[in-house]
Amino acid sequence: MSTDRIPTGSKISIDNTYQQATMTEQRNILVTSALPYANGSIHLGHLVEYIQTDIWVRFQKARGHNCIYVCADDAHGTAIMLKAQQLGHSPEQQIAAVKREHEEDFAGFLVQFDNFHSTHSEENRELSEMIYARLQAQGKIASRTITQAYDPEKQLFLADRYIKGTCPRCKAEDQYGDNCEVCGATYAPTELIEPRSVLSGATPVARDSEHFFFKLPEFEDFLKHWTRAGHLQEEVANKLAEWLDSGLQQWDISRDAPYFGFEIPGQPGKFFYVWLDAPIGYIASFKNYCESQRGRELGLDWRSYWDADSSAEVYHFIGKDIVNFHALFWPAILHCAGLRTPSKVCVHGFLTVNGKKMSKSRGTFINARTYLQYLDPEWLRYYFAAKLTAGVDDLDLNLEDFVQRVNADLVGKVVNIASRSARFIAKQGGVLAAEPADPALWQRFVERGELIAGYYESRDFSKAMREIMSLADAANEYIAAQAPWTLAKQPGSEQRVLAVCSLAINMFRALMTYLQPVLPAMAAKAEAFLGETLSWRAPLSYRGEVAINPFKPLMTRIEKDRVEAMVAASKAETAAADQPPPGGPLAGEPIAAEIGFDDFAKIDLRIVKIIKAEHVEGADKLLKLTLDLGGDTRSVFSGIKSAYEPEQLQGRLTVMVANLKPRKMKFGVSEGMVLAAGPGGKDIYLLDPHPGAEPGMKVT
Ligand code: 2FM
Ligand code: ZN
Repeated sequence: MSTDRIPTGSKISIDNTYQQATMTEQRNILVTSALPYANGSIHLGHLVEYIQTDIWVRFQKARGHNCIYVCADDAHGTAIMLKAQQLGHSPEQQIAAVKREHEEDFAGFLVQFDNFHSTHSEENRELSEMIYARLQAQGKIASRTITQAYDPEKQLFLADRYIKGTCPRCKAEDQYGDNCEVCGATYAPTELIEPRSVLSGATPVARDSEHFFFKLPEFEDFLKHWTRAGHLQEEVANKLAEWLDSGLQQWDISRDAPYFGFEIPGQPGKFFYVWLDAPIGYIASFKNYCESQRGRELGLDWRSYWDADSSAEVYHFIGKDIVNFHALFWPAILHCAGLRTPSKVCVHGFLTVNGKKMSKSRGTFINARTYLQYLDPEWLRYYFAAKLTAGVDDLDLNLEDFVQRVNADLVGKVVNIASRSARFIAKQGGVLAAEPADPALWQRFVERGELIAGYYESRDFSKAMREIMSLADAANEYIAAQAPWTLAKQPGSEQRVLAVCSLAINMFRALMTYLQPVLPAMAAKAEAFLGETLSWRAPLSYRGEVAINPFKPLMTRIEKDRVEAMVAASKAETAAADQPPPGGPLAGEPIAAEIGFDDFAKIDLRIVKIIKAEHVEGADKLLKLTLDLGGDTRSVFSGIKSAYEPEQLQGRLTVMVANLKPRKMKFGVSEGMVLAAGPGGKDIYLLDPHPGAEPGMKVT
């Protein structure tokens, strides 16, 4: 079998096993997103999947199902081991730091896991050993000696991507060990001309070692049936059929030391390959949740979800590059180990930005953290929802369309319904009229709920958003036609104005109920305004004769220059990452004389938002920053002009010394100091607070 990933742009159509969501039966559903590697930051490309999954999970929860969403960091493998070495710490330190960062980024985008664990955990070790023992007991593990490239300096076996050399076909230099990016040839690393290890530059040598293999070909019949049994989108199944027809090969599931992973029991120096224990990490994270206090309160038992005869559902959300691991190896392993197989593997496409692959030099390779410094997470959640289908086509984030669409749909259509109706209700005492002014229109909002639910269920979120926006259009047309602002001027029409605006508020309620899986924070604000908890467990009923609260803004418009500033900042991050690490005390500067804790405690460090950044006429090095300290505003002159353009800074959070005595400078008074590090020139970096930091917060 080819383990090729499905290339970008492959045409894969949607799963048409459409299921109508029912509100009568309560389902037990376990949902996972792919486990992110513990050696890099979350970026917008990752977020397509986590946002897609989170929306689906929130939808299931809103409908009253028991839906549990688990994930974990994918912590094993050579890349993570090397990354830790490069940073000068242990793999355990590396994975702990990345896990914290990942969890913060996900929370920043309102991705709400019930549990986020790590594949480097005791649960995963036990389960991996248990599953491996079952595969062995079934006689499905083979062992044989293979020859591989070995780096004699680094003293490790080299995967193909760690070998480079000249293409044996077209003679292009600097090509990877398995294929040539110039002529497209595929080959074995031993065929490369003048091969070298990417890690040390040494010439690799051939070396033998014993490996363990999972006998995948023995599952050909099982997989031919399983891949056509409604667990996959049709085009994914078609792609897999090509691989199945060209014949499966045994899967190498072991790696030699040094390797960061689990040692294979009874085989010193041999480790489980990261892709064996990664999907087992789904079960491990769920087991960890079941055994947590919350899991015990809920009476959860991991086995009841994973036993072969389980009636629970298991949904895996993944990208199209890892289909073979999830739809061939994983079901075969589960089946062989006597466990249940996934109910569905839901595959999505890749993210492009402005029609192209994300690019560091164009500033369109945007990290989650950078996005959050400039923009509201719900804008992206909505935009992705408006573009996500049940298929595996790539999804484009067109930044102009993003601004236009979010502003037009959410602010221009949805928020507008409430904002222009609320004041008329407030004027008449704040209590909604008893009956819908236009019962047929209200009925349309109720009935469309089931259609929208069906679209959510089948992951056709773009259709759900289209349907919701067409309801929003109908609500706005109704309000425009009734013109309560004109009616209100006519004596004796108070009841009519109240009835029209009460229906408008009810239509807004319905829209927010249907949008809640996508916009949980805005829905929470709507709940505060409406004075109720939105529920979608049953068809909506009209709400009258109840008081609502004063209307407060629910969402602001996206300003185009914030998007531009985010792109500029992403570009600057790339430039910074390409430079040698900035010097700190350990890189040459002597450490200053010791101070006591009392001295240190006098410094009041605060989170601030840069609300304005300007050039200072006549100053070569300074920018003038206007800082919001959580209500208080400060002017500070900062020597960071060589590293930042003013527009990159506006809206960004950083840290300031807030109690520094104001200092009179040539250009004005500086009321504090912002903190930055770096050797100088372009390499000066303002400190970045964590997502969730707010202006005025004390830094301790
Ligand atoms: O491709 C990846 O990013 C992998 N870390 C996904 C693992 S998903 C699961 F199998 F663990
Ligand atoms: Zn070539």
